[in-house]
Amino acid sequence: MTKNSPKAVAWQGEYDGALVLLDQTELPSTCKFLECRDVPTVWEAIKQLRVRGAPAIGIAAAYGVSVALRNAVAEKWTLERLKREAKQAIDHLATSRPTAVNLFWALQRMEGVLEHAVQAETEVEAAAMRMLNEAKAIHQEDIVMCHAIGRFGASLLKDGGVLTHCNTGGLATSEYGTALSAIFTAHDQGKKVEVFVDETRPLLQGARLTAWELMQHGVPATLITDSMAAQVMREGKVQAVIIGADRITARGDAANKIGSYGLAIVAKYHNVPFYVAAPSSTFDLKLVSGADIPIEQRASEEITEPFGKRIAPVGVRTYNPAFDVVPAELITALITEKGIIQPVNQAGVTAMLAS
Ligand code: MRU
Repeated sequence: MTKNSPKAVAWQGEYDGALVLLDQTELPSTCKFLECRDVPTVWEAIKQLRVRGAPAIGIAAAYGVSVALRNAVAEKWTLERLKREAKQAIDHLATSRPTAVNLFWALQRMEGVLEHAVQAETEVEAAAMRMLNEAKAIHQEDIVMCHAIGRFGASLLKDGGVLTHCNTGGLATSEYGTALSAIFTAHDQGKKVEVFVDETRPLLQGARLTAWELMQHGVPATLITDSMAAQVMREGKVQAVIIGADRITARGDAANKIGSYGLAIVAKYHNVPFYVAAPSSTFDLKLVSGADIPIEQRASEEITEPFGKRIAPVGVRTYNPAFDVVPAELITALITEKGIIQPVNQAGVTAMLAS
């Protein structure tokens, strides 16, 4: 996604405006925008993956708190009411999806500003404005972080094939992405990268979103099914695997879209470097082991009736974890906006995030 591409997340208007989301469930066939004017609409959009990808979820949730406050001035709320409504929105939005820590990180920032705003301001309008400005700051900071990740990530890539999983571009973030930012930046620098795109079962973020974004950017892309990745690596077609993350622990274990763990094992076997690119907002230093990352379980229909077409027998039992965890020892390097963490271990993560 470039500066001129449709934005995954945008705020329209002032403190009484609306959150506008590009409905990613309709892509790539239809570019439909969803105007969110109440918190349940924002919650549903996050839950149903109309907006998705760890950084974009955080940005949307931050704006979601401002959505809760959009009638504050018109309805002459008190500051106490504003605080109550914002807190309710924060608590509710936090229940939308459990794995991407960016959601909780962004909501925590909004809560911090809320406490400050209701103490410092005497007017509801000024407090609502402070909240919106914080959401905008979270959004803007992500743009800068993504470009920095791109520059560090591109330094690890040379001409040749790169394999990626799920979607980590502008649709999943503010503008340029994380893992895809590294690929876009390498391409912009004139490197001849060709991307193998895992389709990413069951919701096909790779086929629907990543292939679309790469083609829009003019990066050569080849779509494969997830089960073809091992063969592509065996044939020596890829110099590196690069993915994003939804939560990275203090020791560097990284949760990402289901299938990432298997890819890391296959990459190790074939001596292919395995990179994980993510901003510091994706790190959860309260957790050490990846085993403690909550893994979202999703509806069985995503497997049995993908996109409304039944493909499995009625009544079949399913198991549908949306994410898995790549242990630090399978990750060659973590690429952040602050720099590259290599080797991946607790000392490296702590030092880089503190820098
Ligand atoms: O379920 P999704 O589509 O929200 O999952 C997204 C991913 O797993 C991405 O790889 C991750 O959030 C990184 S986005 C830069």
